Amino acid sequence: MEVIRPLFFLTLLGLGLLILQQIQLFLLEVYIKHQYNVNNRLVTVSFHRSSVINVVGDKFIGVALGCGLIKRKFKHFDFGSQKMLTLARGLAPSYIRVGGTDCDFLIFNMTEDRTLRYKPQAQYVVEDELDKTGINFTMTPEDWDKLNLFTQDVGWSLIFDFNVFLRKNGQWDPTNAKELLRYTVLKGYKPAGYELGNEPNSFYHNFHFRIPGDLMATYFKTLQSMLDSFPQLGTPIIIGPDTTQVQRKSAREYLTLFLSAGGGKSVDVATFHHYYLDSKTATVEQFHDPTILDSLTPEIITAVNIVRQNAPGKQCWLGETSSAYGGGALGISDRYVAGFLWLDKLGLSALHGLQGVLRQTFYGNRYGLIDVDLNPNPDYWLTLLYKRLVGGRVLSLGQESNPNLRVYAHCANNNSSMGYSKGDITVYVINLSNDVITVNITGIPVSTRHLYILSPGDDSGLTSRYVKLNGEVLMLPNDEELPTLKPKIQEGNVLLQGYNMGFIVIPGARKHDCL
Ligand SMILES: *[C@@H]1O[C@H](CO)[C@@H](O)[C@H](O)[C@H]1NC(C)=O
Ligand SMILES: *[C@@H]1O[C@H](CO)[C@@H](O)[C@H](O)[C@H]1NC(C)=O
Ligand SMILES: *[C@@H]1O[C@H](CO)[C@@H](O)[C@H](O)[C@H]1NC(C)=O
Ligand SMILES: *[C@@H]1O[C@H](CO)[C@@H](O)[C@H](O)[C@H]1NC(C)=O
Repeated sequence: MEVIRPLFFLTLLGLGLLILQQIQLFLLEVYIKHQYNVNNRLVTVSFHRSSVINVVGDKFIGVALGCGLIKRKFKHFDFGSQKMLTLARGLAPSYIRVGGTDCDFLIFNMTEDRTLRYKPQAQYVVEDELDKTGINFTMTPEDWDKLNLFTQDVGWSLIFDFNVFLRKNGQWDPTNAKELLRYTVLKGYKPAGYELGNEPNSFYHNFHFRIPGDLMATYFKTLQSMLDSFPQLGTPIIIGPDTTQVQRKSAREYLTLFLSAGGGKSVDVATFHHYYLDSKTATVEQFHDPTILDSLTPEIITAVNIVRQNAPGKQCWLGETSSAYGGGALGISDRYVAGFLWLDKLGLSALHGLQGVLRQTFYGNRYGLIDVDLNPNPDYWLTLLYKRLVGGRVLSLGQESNPNLRVYAHCANNNSSMGYSKGDITVYVINLSNDVITVNITGIPVSTRHLYILSPGDDSGLTSRYVKLNGEVLMLPNDEELPTLKPKIQEGNVLLQGYNMGFIVIPGARKHDCL
């Protein structure tokens, strides 16, 4: 007994000390986390020295459709679908560019030319799968009517890409284009703009012949005089040359030669195309990898510099762009995770001096804003929110460096149904990793924040087909109307959960640059 009792108390004492030590360690850890924000990082976004660094128009985001859709007689793209019309009207005002590889095989003809063969595509592949068969196809007046009437109906502005492969004596032959324009005038349509050819710097790679940049510039001069000869068309803009892969020296040389050889005088907007990834090999991880997001920056800067030097005063657009070429990555490009690349692309483009971004594509494939069955994909909702909340004046920001948090700011859109006013600010943020982040906005005298935070719509997480706005899955209440997009209103710092993204509007900011 005498031996056991002290031993028992000693053990108890030791155990007690051990527990106390654990509590102390725990408290220390909590203290450190609080002090240094290890798990819940604080990022300061400062407006103290911000200023307007670019101004974009209300059609900054446009959409694209491939001419393959005309080739397939619009297949599942039902112009009579009330649901589709509602979704399209929601994005107005917007450009819609009907262009791409297939347009260089399109011939306008009053009757369907049966001598041209149409190669049917696999079911449910309704956008360009870039079939390089070189088989021409017909666009009939009815096809053109459908496109124009749809565009007018939903409040969009049509851009059409003429076939540059129609050539005679080494020059572009505009005969067929003129026929289309005569019909256009007859019907009183007024498309907003025209293009000529698609990705001409890749013609050799794709079709084994070249049209050098300076020769292409002469074709654009022809296009310009042709459009001038139809004053009834109004004053459509000319857009081109739709160069692709400007990270390549040959592409930069092509764009430079085209612009400096006269193309820069003919075009109102100089364009380049961009895709981050190949749809066959792209992974979910790449869709939120900061190095992939960053890969766009040098391309924008390069293109903007070439345009500034060789076509001063002319706008520069991303004339066709999406996450992954070849139709978009299966089970990725049409999911929640695609929003990281899309929202960041919009931010980088506005920040680095572009005036337009045409999203490949409005409809179909994996990268469509709406899917083959005309239902909205997550990027549709992101686009809709962007158009309603983000205004034209782009603001520079002071921000603590953190590769996982992307932050952009514009003056708020003061002309949308959301009811924001002059002086208000919209900040948009993307959390690229799985931790919570606290966003501390400084340099603004008001603390009210309107949050529009997007998160995955179901348990599939990053690959969810749906998206939640402030915790509620976004869906059409019926075919005739869009859901009300309601903010979560709060004061002070904003907590952003891992892998969330969204918009923070600051009403009453009275930001001088936005008044
Ligand atoms: C239009 O189609 C007819 C046959 O239906 C053909 O003879 C004619 O050459 C075509 N026109 C053009 C411009 O291809
Ligand atoms: C505001 O929006 C309306 C309708 O969308 C449009 O007609 C008008 O031009 C816009 N005003 C400005 C100043 O952007
Ligand atoms: C909002 O306010 C600014 C500044 O007054 C003005 O220039 C702009 O046209 C307004 N509309 C939109 C849609 O930003
Ligand atoms: C965050 O921002 C507000 C001003 O908007 C400021 O008062 C506050 O001290 C900042 N810092 C922290 C750690 O919240």
